[in-house]
Amino acid sequence: QNDDDQLVIDAGQKQFGATTCNSCGMLYSADSPEDNFQHTQFHQRFLDTIRFVGWKKERVVAEFWDGKIILVLPEDPKYATKKAEDVRRIADSELGFQQVNLSSPSAAKTYLFINSDKMVVGCLVAEPIRQAFRVLEQQVKPKDMMKEDFMEHHRAWCCSTMPEKAICGVSRIWVFSLMRRKGIATRLLDTVRGSFMYGSPLTKAEIAFSDPTPDGKLFATKYCST
Ligand code: ACO
Ligand code: ZN
Repeated sequence: QNDDDQLVIDAGQKQFGATTCNSCGMLYSADSPEDNFQHTQFHQRFLDTIRFVGWKKERVVAEFWDGKIILVLPEDPKYATKKAEDVRRIADSELGFQQVNLSSPSAAKTYLFINSDKMVVGCLVAEPIRQAFRVLEQQVKPKDMMKEDFMEHHRAWCCSTMPEKAICGVSRIWVFSLMRRKGIATRLLDTVRGSFMYGSPLTKAEIAFSDPTPDGKLFATKYCST
């Protein structure tokens, strides 16, 4: 993970001397020539990637007052799968994922949330799975801070050894930093549950999150308990 990615992850936090670009969301120090350069490089590429011009055929699976969700399948036209892949790469670099390959590319379903400004502001990749291991709640003890920090960094969440039945695995979920806490991830997941298997909506328990980040874990805990 390079510094570029780290700056994106930190976006939104207030830091002395740092600015958050209000169109691409990157946090950088306007005083630093190197930061300015990195921002200029990132800015246009990012906005080009999330721009959505509209397609002749769109598989709209949900519509809202502030946007819509479209589903992209592996067999879709190249322009659609390419957009899905480009957005997934953005999510991957922000998540610090090195490898860009999916576990089952031919069965992966990509859900994109398009807002009213024609930008892809959310992305969710769902894949069929058979079983999952439940992430166990960790005790937060102040004196274990060092250990907690270590675990957060390595995403080494403790998992149970008992496999549980699951049907849909969420291998990526990402929302544009400037559009978070508006229920976009929630709406993506609700839509996945309703459309992943034709004719039979999935329960929250039938969805599993793979390798969640700290943000992902907070979100998933909230989502699954409501
Ligand atoms: N801290 C605390 N609670 C949170 C957070 C957070 N960062 N994010 C979500 N929640 C909880 C809240 O209770 C929230 O409700 P509220 O806003 O009314 O309090 C509830 O979850 C629903 O949140 P949404 O608005 O639906 O979530 P959002 O659209 O902001 O997306 C996401 C959440 C996807 C985790 C986003 O923060 C993100 O993209 N983060 C960076 C990428 C990432 O870490 N993705 C998860 C990786 S794990 C995986 O891909 C399997
Ligand atoms: Zn910018």
